[in-house]
Amino acid sequence: MRIAFLGKGGAGKTTTSAGFIQYLAKRNPFVMAIDADLNAHLKSALSLKGDVEQLGLHFDEVTSYLRGERIDLGARPMIGTTPPAAGSNFITARRDDAFVRKYALFENNIALLTVGTYQQEDVGGSCYHEKLKSLAGIFHHLLDTEEDLIVADTTAGTDNVATSLSFAYDMNVFVLEPTEKSTQVVLDFLQIAGNLGDRTYVIGNKVDGEEDAEYIMGRVGKEKYLGSIPFSRNLKRFEQGEENALEEFAREQEAVFAKVQEVWQSHKRDWSDYRDRLHKTYKWDCERWYADYYKQDLYSGIDTTFTYADAFVKLNLNPSPTAKKETENAPALATR
Ligand SMILES: Nc1ncnc2c1ncn2[C@@H]1O[C@H](COP(=O)(O)OP(=O)(O)OP(=O)(O)O)[C@@H](O)[C@H]1O
Ligand SMILES: [Mg+2]
Repeated sequence: MRIAFLGKGGAGKTTTSAGFIQYLAKRNPFVMAIDADLNAHLKSALSLKGDVEQLGLHFDEVTSYLRGERIDLGARPMIGTTPPAAGSNFITARRDDAFVRKYALFENNIALLTVGTYQQEDVGGSCYHEKLKSLAGIFHHLLDTEEDLIVADTTAGTDNVATSLSFAYDMNVFVLEPTEKSTQVVLDFLQIAGNLGDRTYVIGNKVDGEEDAEYIMGRVGKEKYLGSIPFSRNLKRFEQGEENALEEFAREQEAVFAKVQEVWQSHKRDWSDYRDRLHKTYKWDCERWYADYYKQDLYSGIDTTFTYADAFVKLNLNPSPTAKKETENAPALATR
């Protein structure tokens, strides 16, 4: 399961992502955290020490890993949206996964993957989508099950809608301050997001009383609203160096996070829809300019018979272990 926190600059995406990751890590053995923002602050928000690998700098290495043994691609290069095939190397959201071990920073129950920021040579001529394509490749080759917990902090605004990351998450949560500009970001997103809107929700942040909460609901609709986190004096105390205050801030977030998790669990991924969307996006990418840029027909030869279901079987994984447990129980109950 994958979830992304989005919203206007400064609304509280990183604070909320970090809080949710810690909420999950306290209650579960393993959480995968993704910092997908060019201002990479998730590591410090999680108080993790140690160096991170910047995935955005390693696109060739990442794609050469994902390419695995596939022969269908021949000499054709991979781009961020190249769909997997039978011979691909897949990634699992597990502590012992070779890819995760190589690129993540591990601490306690958290593994943090980081896209990273610009380099000096990017100044004046680069775009963050160039960095995000490593993450897109990873998500499109990630065989996560409904028990795996993957939480991403993202760039400000609605930018991710312009990349294939837009459909990589099972749920989008916009973090909104109770202001017109902040709430406008999700309204803008919903206008262009098509059916991605069905998996999009909001939480209020820095909310000061019922009036603020009512304001947000009035702007975005009650059905999208999962609750609010108060404007927290405890967070400020923590940021001023009082370590114990973080526990108190965590308690202020708990009710909303329980609701977020409940709704998240109800959004099961349709893997064949995901695959079709990826194929469509890749084809579109090729037609727009990649084929021209590489002077090759990148789309032909793509394995359209590939299914994620087969890839799960090959790795002996079950995408929805809970559902399986229920059906396994059913005959036993019936014969009793
Ligand atoms: N509930 C809250 N109460 C008080 N202050 C908060 C709360 N949530 C976030 N803040 C403060 O708001 C500021 C911005 O928060 P944060 O960095 O999480 O936002 P962001 O959306 O990730 O920003 P950016 O767009 O720069 O990535 C920080 O100083 C943070 O401490
Ligand atoms: Mg941030």
